[in-house]
Amino acid sequence: MKKKFLDLGTHPLANAFLSKKEIKHPKREYFYKLSVGFDTKSYLVSLMRTVNPKKQYTDKYAHRASQSMTMKHSFKNIANILKKRFKPRISLEIGSNDGVFIQNFKKKKIIAVEPCANLARITKKRGFKTYAKFWTKMLAKRISKFCKKVDLIFSANTISHIPDYKETFDAIDILLSNNGVLVVEDPYVGSVLKLNSYDQFYDEHVYVFSLMAISNIIKSSGLRIFDAEEISTHGGSMRYYICKEQSKFKLTKRFNILYKKEIKYEIDKFSTYNSFSKRIKKSKKDLVNLFKNLKRKNKKIISYGATYKSTTVFNYCNIGKNFLDYVIDTTPNKQGKFTPGKHVPIISPEKGFNITVDYAFLGAWNFKKEIMSKEKNFIKRGGKFITHVPKARII
Ligand code: TYD
Repeated sequence: MKKKFLDLGTHPLANAFLSKKEIKHPKREYFYKLSVGFDTKSYLVSLMRTVNPKKQYTDKYAHRASQSMTMKHSFKNIANILKKRFKPRISLEIGSNDGVFIQNFKKKKIIAVEPCANLARITKKRGFKTYAKFWTKMLAKRISKFCKKVDLIFSANTISHIPDYKETFDAIDILLSNNGVLVVEDPYVGSVLKLNSYDQFYDEHVYVFSLMAISNIIKSSGLRIFDAEEISTHGGSMRYYICKEQSKFKLTKRFNILYKKEIKYEIDKFSTYNSFSKRIKKSKKDLVNLFKNLKRKNKKIISYGATYKSTTVFNYCNIGKNFLDYVIDTTPNKQGKFTPGKHVPIISPEKGFNITVDYAFLGAWNFKKEIMSKEKNFIKRGGKFITHVPKARII
């Protein structure tokens, strides 16, 4: 049974950045109720209500995975490790974005699946076999006519976005070879609990997985998990290694260690999530007070990184033009637009990250290291960063 533990109020779609024309018609902006629940049987954490994916993954999808050096390196690294460890004859990626992972493979050795037409176009143009489609059993059957089975299916920050996980894993079972491997990366519930990063919850993150939950939900699709590793991307993720029930892979030591950790941290208890919810209410109060204090002192505050996560923070905490002058972001198709719900202008760092800025809220806190080392001059001249993870504070 799914029990609600967190109510974050009314939210716009996290990636629905608005144009100048669109903010003139605020009534047209789409809002939904964002709340999160815990399934006491499968231990799965998920949104109470999901949004129709056709509203989310359109030809205007803003996120470009290759914009970050951290993600580029991470994907190159894991692509090489997977090629060496599993020696796949043919691989497939579900949610290939702009090709940042598949570019590490030979063109004939990997297939891309990406429903956002603007992104699929990029990999198609570069010569990769690309299906501009949602991942379904029907698509898996269609691909199997082309290549029979695949030995490696990779999917980063995508499976947790698809509302029907049963369809997703059944489709994977159709296409995966007998000793094939599915590798999934997604934000990890253990990190969310530890960092109080409630901003991992937004319309696209339908699920925030744990080892326990993944193990439970893949069973009925004839799959099992045999290995896992914690990774630092996206503010704390887990990489799950999954195979067919009858496959040759044995449970690894590191999986057992991580699983025991979940038992210790009571990932399977509703009370864990109830306590988290109390911490989040306090996080909101503390962050708003921090902003109010700085504004009383006439400080100029901006936000660094127009992230989907910050859509949750700003709309939950009611942070908009009352506190922020603007948001800076390196992504060209976010610049010139306005943040969802709160309509704060987004500009390039070249235009906005100058000596007039006193404080910068880390909307992209998951890149804290990369940003801090890049912005040494800002820090040197007395500029300060603000974060809300794990607690609202000035860095
Ligand atoms: P991302 O990590 O994808 O977070 P989310 O999934 O919550 O959207 O987004 C990071 C954003 O931050 C992206 O739009 C690029 C931007 N960014 C900068 O503007 N400057 C930087 O130095 C870095 C690292 C990211």
